[in-house]
Amino acid sequence: MSYERAMSVRKKHVSPGYLTYYRQPVMICQGHMQYLWDTSGKRYLDLFGGIVTVSVGHCQPKVKQALRDQMDLLWHTTNIYLHPKIHEYAEKLVARLPGDLKVCYFTNSGSEANELAVKMARLHTARHDVVALRNAYHGASPYTVALTASSNWQYNLPRTSAVVHAVNPYLSQKYNSAQLARNARMRLALWLKG
Ligand SMILES: Cc1ncc(COP(=O)(O)O)c(C=O)c1O
Repeated sequence: MSYERAMSVRKKHVSPGYLTYYRQPVMICQGHMQYLWDTSGKRYLDLFGGIVTVSVGHCQPKVKQALRDQMDLLWHTTNIYLHPKIHEYAEKLVARLPGDLKVCYFTNSGSEANELAVKMARLHTARHDVVALRNAYHGASPYTVALTASSNWQYNLPRTSAVVHAVNPYLSQKYNSAQLARNARMRLALWLKG
């Protein structure tokens, strides 16, 4: 599909809720390890460094082969029955984790992982309050959008309660605003004291 056609379909049939960077967003059509190519054939290095899902590179041959093998075998199942892969993966993963980190809960996205982390922490501690840092992105699902303190992702809708936002003291110090950092720590300490 050409760039122009994709832009036209996007305008007509794709929700504007999907944001793009830049007025003329790059259209990526191929990837290999650390490289990506756009529709004009231009090659980019490390274009998505910040997007965690490509931490092993694009179309990494070992990962590609594992995906192919699995697709030939079985490509959908459920946790209510046993399935070899989740157990093979859990065993390999915990062997690399330190200390008591020996139990896995796999999720599909960052939002889902953060939702679960908050839910587990609330259930485990029997406390409800969560402190999140300002300007940090934690996701856009119901819980995580309340943690996310960025106006880009806020809407005029009721939000989950008991989330308090604090200035990131480290960042403030880094940007030479020691007073701001002290204030943030003081406010956080006061709030934690109740
Ligand atoms: C730090 C951080 N937390 C949470 C998320 C949300 O992850 P997802 O988009 O997979 O739900 C992201 C996504 O970019 C992220 O960068």
